[in-house]
Amino acid sequence: METRMDTSSVDKTPLLDRTATGAPSARRLSAGVLLILLLLLGLTASPPSKATYHSLFLSLGDNATAARHLLALTRSPHVAGTPANADAASYVRSALSAASFPAHVASYDVLLSYPVLRSLALSPSPPPSSAPATAFRLVQEIYPGVPYADAAAEALPAFHAYARSGSAAGPAVYANYGRVEDFANLRAMGVNVTGAVVLARYGKIYRGEIVSNAAAAGAAAAVVYTDSKDYSGDRWFPDGPGMPPSGVQAGSTYRGIGDPTTPGWPSSAGCERLSAAEVATSGMTPGIPSLPVSARDGEAIQRSIGGQAAPHDWQGGEGAPVYRLGPGPGFLNLTYIGNETLATIENVCAMIEGEDEPDRYVILGNHRDAWTFGAVDPNSGTAALLEIAQRLGKLQKRGWRPRRTIVFCNWDAEEYGLIGSTEWVEENKEMLASRAIAYLNVDCAVGGPGFHASTTPQLDEIIKQATKKVQDPDNFSQMVYDSWVNSNDSKLIGRLGGRGTDFAAFVQHIGVPSVDLSFGGGYPVYHSLYDDFVWMQKFGDPLFHRHVAAASIWGLVALTLADDEFLPFNYISYALELQGSTKTLEDEVLGMPVTFTPLYRSIEELEKAATNIDKEKKALELEVGLVGRRKDPLKVRELNDRLMMAERAFTDREGLFHREWYKHLIYGPSLHDDYGSNSFPGIDDAIQKAKSLNISDSWRFVQHEVWRAARVVTQASRVLHGKLT
Ligand SMILES: *[C@@H]1O[C@H](CO)[C@@H](O)[C@H](O)[C@H]1NC(C)=O
Ligand SMILES: *[C@@H]1O[C@H](CO)[C@@H](O)[C@H](O)[C@H]1NC(C)=O
Ligand SMILES: *[C@@H]1O[C@H](CO)[C@@H](O)[C@H](O)[C@H]1NC(C)=O
Ligand SMILES: *[C@@H]1O[C@H](CO)[C@@H](O)[C@H](O)[C@H]1NC(C)=O
Ligand SMILES: *[C@@H]1O[C@H](CO)[C@@H](O)[C@H](O)[C@H]1NC(C)=O
Ligand SMILES: *[C@@H]1O[C@H](CO)[C@@H](O)[C@H](O)[C@H]1NC(C)=O
Repeated sequence: METRMDTSSVDKTPLLDRTATGAPSARRLSAGVLLILLLLLGLTASPPSKATYHSLFLSLGDNATAARHLLALTRSPHVAGTPANADAASYVRSALSAASFPAHVASYDVLLSYPVLRSLALSPSPPPSSAPATAFRLVQEIYPGVPYADAAAEALPAFHAYARSGSAAGPAVYANYGRVEDFANLRAMGVNVTGAVVLARYGKIYRGEIVSNAAAAGAAAAVVYTDSKDYSGDRWFPDGPGMPPSGVQAGSTYRGIGDPTTPGWPSSAGCERLSAAEVATSGMTPGIPSLPVSARDGEAIQRSIGGQAAPHDWQGGEGAPVYRLGPGPGFLNLTYIGNETLATIENVCAMIEGEDEPDRYVILGNHRDAWTFGAVDPNSGTAALLEIAQRLGKLQKRGWRPRRTIVFCNWDAEEYGLIGSTEWVEENKEMLASRAIAYLNVDCAVGGPGFHASTTPQLDEIIKQATKKVQDPDNFSQMVYDSWVNSNDSKLIGRLGGRGTDFAAFVQHIGVPSVDLSFGGGYPVYHSLYDDFVWMQKFGDPLFHRHVAAASIWGLVALTLADDEFLPFNYISYALELQGSTKTLEDEVLGMPVTFTPLYRSIEELEKAATNIDKEKKALELEVGLVGRRKDPLKVRELNDRLMMAERAFTDREGLFHREWYKHLIYGPSLHDDYGSNSFPGIDDAIQKAKSLNISDSWRFVQHEVWRAARVVTQASRVLHGKLT
């Protein structure tokens, strides 16, 4: 990588320009003398190499800058569509402009959801009951000494965005994590969920799935709580990092992506929209009311539930009561009224125009909107983004210009359903599909120690290279790479099949190579009132070194993609990854009438094509070593375009079965877990269905999905080859 960068800068020395036009005197010099001459010129006359600028970028990291931005961004809660989030947008805009990148706002009117009325009461037995119902307060406690006491009062009450408005009452039934298999177990254990109010705990699947699974099981309403076993640990905020007993995880229950009123097209001014009634019947919002509650309230409900004891792995932690299944006798009465309204959201975007290829984009994205203060989620990422911008501003002052255009995007309304990024991708779909090199997402930059990365596999190597150049923020005597490979993650690099954050539209709708980076995995005060600056300073990143490391890795990957003459994409690792994923699927259906041979064959072709394009790239690189020859910029560009477009080939116009917006046939959400990250979701869904039906038509459908996947993989190798048949 280093040498590649060096040749690209030597390429621009005046001498080479002359030799390219065939200056005879230079030709007559011996190669050795020429080399020395070149080196001398390179050292004295040419501007610093890209590699020098990249090292400079790493040395400019500044924890105080990151901390200052985070403090400014987290002074008050800033939910999408509120004045506080508009203020945060102005802050980001002026910070980018101050770093000398003029920023603009791309705004959209989209359907957002706010709580108007919430009530939840528990009676020890069903009506007519003599015992009075106890109404829960549904308030997260504000701790003395927390500097945000006043601002905390401005936070929205914890709620489920897009929950159905209404009242429901029924006996409580405990449904563990609310997964499909949990409801199947309840049925198998003879527990009647029909008409009940389901109590489920957070932690395994997307909350929108919990509520819709409860609705599908016949429940009248759902209450989702934070089990202290999963989120509190020994010590909770402000004494420890854990979720306090009154802490509540808010969040969306929308199962679509982007503005609910414009499924598949941008919410631009005056555009076509679905009506509220059409949104309500789209199946993307839950059909029953729901509320999130605290560990304390969830435990109180647990104590009211009788009947058989829940299975061992459904139980709580030490000190928790024995969890039982119900129904009842505890009886819940829930009311939720929400206000769904068109509100304006603002993506803040800024660009550094590329010097040589201004029409090729390397895009860095992070969202800004938060359920409360958003110190981890998402403004640790925003702080890192602004810290990168400041470093790049300094590079520009010293003469650096990227080869390709770098775009910063600060998204809005991610929390509601990836709305800001999705509307922008839909609005710029064809431009991005023909010009985007890569999308680099950081949502929560820092929630604790430990580096995590998920990528489309041609970017694996570049992430590893970047982590080898950035110091481990928790042990300066080694690199991030060293602690990362020694971590206990069974899989070093994750994949982008889930829809947990803003990469979804880029990867799954249009097929842009992408990464998602963070320090720390889940963190206990997620989406609660306690995700604030104090938590970050005490527990998340006391010295802000992790913020700087996140910015360094993120920025270095962006610089490499923006500056390297040849895109450092490795499709061999893609082919190897696909072989592994195919084997996993194959093992699931041993003995069934399905063959994976077409897919294996297409993956072999991909591996060959990947090897070939690597050879072509090396040959092209060598050409510069031959005296008097200069790399043909159009040839370089053509090769890079093949590397860029191969990922696009994994998308299919028709998309996933019954979920046409998801065009990528390798990475997309699985039907029963929007956070899940399986490969080949179309095949996987077909297998799950065939297993439950087990009729020959359903296995034929699995086979069809295998063929479809094989065809897109074949298309990708054709793109890499770059030749018509
Ligand atoms: C389940 O409960 C509902 C509501 O109480 C009742 O109407 C239904 O008959 C029950 N079903 C069974 C199988 O007991
Ligand atoms: C639920 O509570 C409301 C008042 O909050 C009350 O009007 C209603 O009768 C209750 N429903 C049941 C079934 O107890
Ligand atoms: C719903 O929100 C809109 C826009 O913020 C507001 O004008 C309206 O008063 C709200 N309605 C209720 C019932 O709160
Ligand atoms: C820090 O890294 C060095 C070099 O890898 C290692 O020897 C040392 O044990 C690490 N220290 C801690 C506290 O992990
Ligand atoms: C890996 O797991 C071992 C044993 O569970 C633990 O002692 C160690 O601290 C873990 N290492 C990391 C980096 O998480
Ligand atoms: C930045 O790091 C230095 C050196 O570790 C430390 O002394 C300082 O307190 C840190 N600044 C912030 C804002 O955490």
